[in-house]
Amino acid sequence: MSDNQPFLTDIKTLRERARQHIDDGAVTAGYDADRDKVIQLLNDALATEIVCVLRYRRHYFMAKGPNSKGVADEFMAHSNEEQGHADQIAERIVQLGGEPDFAPQGLATRSHAEYVEGTTLADMIKENLVAERIAIDTYREIVQFIGDKDPTSRRLMESILAVEEEHADEMLDLLAANPDAEKAH
Ligand SMILES: [Fe+2]
Ligand SMILES: [Fe+2]
Repeated sequence: MSDNQPFLTDIKTLRERARQHIDDGAVTAGYDADRDKVIQLLNDALATEIVCVLRYRRHYFMAKGPNSKGVADEFMAHSNEEQGHADQIAERIVQLGGEPDFAPQGLATRSHAEYVEGTTLADMIKENLVAERIAIDTYREIVQFIGDKDPTSRRLMESILAVEEEHADEMLDLLAANPDAEKAH
């Protein structure tokens, strides 16, 4: 590193490194994070997203009652957005040289959020709210863990985190509009 370039690795070294580790794809020698750990965390998040896709979809088909149409549509919209998150996370795992884990075996265990079917419309909304809050907490922790070491993975998880916060907010509004959980039991 030359004196007049205190912050940047010189371009020749960068180019040499890029050639030496060409098989590493997007992961260069400047990658600071614990790559295996980041891939593992992303795979846990991937499992969470898949479980959320399935739970929201189950709820879409099972939603019943006079107010169910709008709520069911919201469930489906969320399910599709969770699928989009799953795809983004899987793509990033591959960029990091890992393999996205789509195996159905152990999916529920790998996931942070749970698959709860619920019976009433309010039950379903509540379960989705709980799952979103779990995703929010764990994704925030992942963002903090990654820190400045892998800005791309961090930004991805930050952008997904923001959407999960919107999801939670929407479930809270739906719960306020459909407060029949206690009456059903
Ligand atoms: Fe998501
Ligand atoms: Fe969500």
